[in-house]
Amino acid sequence: MAKKPISKQEPDTTGHEWDGIQEYNNPLPRWWLWTFYATIVWGLWYVIAYPAWPLINQATAGYKGWSTRANVAVELAEAEAANAGINAKLVAAELSEVSADPELQGYATSAGAAVFRTSCAQCHGSGAAGVQASGYPNLLDNDWLWGGTIEDIHATIAHGIRNEDDPDARYSEMPAFGEILESAEIDQVVNYVMSLSGEPQDPALVAAGETVYMDNCAACHGEEAQGDISQGAPNLADAIWLYGGDYDTIRETVTYSRYGVMPSWAGRLSEAELRAVAVYVHQLGGGE
Ligand code: HEC
Ligand code: HEC
Repeated sequence: MAKKPISKQEPDTTGHEWDGIQEYNNPLPRWWLWTFYATIVWGLWYVIAYPAWPLINQATAGYKGWSTRANVAVELAEAEAANAGINAKLVAAELSEVSADPELQGYATSAGAAVFRTSCAQCHGSGAAGVQASGYPNLLDNDWLWGGTIEDIHATIAHGIRNEDDPDARYSEMPAFGEILESAEIDQVVNYVMSLSGEPQDPALVAAGETVYMDNCAACHGEEAQGDISQGAPNLADAIWLYGGDYDTIRETVTYSRYGVMPSWAGRLSEAELRAVAVYVHQLGGGE
């Protein structure tokens, strides 16, 4: 049995009733309802007009063909076109003369810094200081394994070091002396190497180690241990260490040798980018 509304002001009921609870017939305001329908229509149109539904390889394209990716591509192309002139100038210039042209040098340094952040920082550190005793060299100092002129740096970056993907990569290999020298001789030569950078060592071992060094190491590292950039052999007398200068690390280096690898960048970066990053590294402070 339907109950009557409690007062005249009360709206009508829909006639639905559960356990004596009646449902008022309170329709939504018309403006609200029409706005709601309009958003549904607009939503459907939007989903069809713009990229929306994710598919396996990409989203639906939308009939307008518009996409944020395409917008970015257009902006990138515009930026590239705007830099085309100066990039061509950079590629045409003699590397050693870039620094004489402040505009070119400034452009190359900032473009090179951007390349460095993307392609080099993961190994050489964001500030190019390398990673201590990891085999990733510091590029801020004037200690160069493979040469610090801008041409040397450019060649190192373009072809990399000891990688297998570039036949022009810089290459050399220190023998593993664990198979060549007696353990006592390795002990002696390690003591000699440590004495070169001023670490106090047992003089008897150092004297014996010098003989081992001259016979086995001087051909690559030099009689004065000054290193040899034609073989990427580090200076052993400057207390700057690629892998570490304590007894255990040097002993490990001599026994097993090392094989530092850097990828080649010639195929991955444009010539303008290669030159820009070479200029950037060169001006960091250590460039010859
Ligand atoms: C995967 C790690 C890695 C990446 C990435 C990398 N490098 Fe290297 N880089 C090395 C290693 C390792 C060496 C030292 C190799 C050796 O022992 O001779 C090196 C050496 C160098 C040298 C020679 C330093 C010297 O003393 O002669 C330069 C210059 C250099 N890198 C620049 C760059 C630049 C510029 C980039 C980015 C375009 C880059 N590297 C990216 C690992 C890397
Ligand atoms: C065929 C040339 C060659 C000979 C011979 C050679 N080395 Fe090396 N040595 C290298 C090269 C190249 C490197 C750098 C390896 C790398 O970066 O992967 C190196 C690296 C080192 C390092 C690491 C330096 C650092 O900064 O961490 C030490 C120490 C060293 N050599 C000591 C010796 C001693 C001692 C001998 C003799 C018993 C010797 N080497 C013989 C080429 C040579």
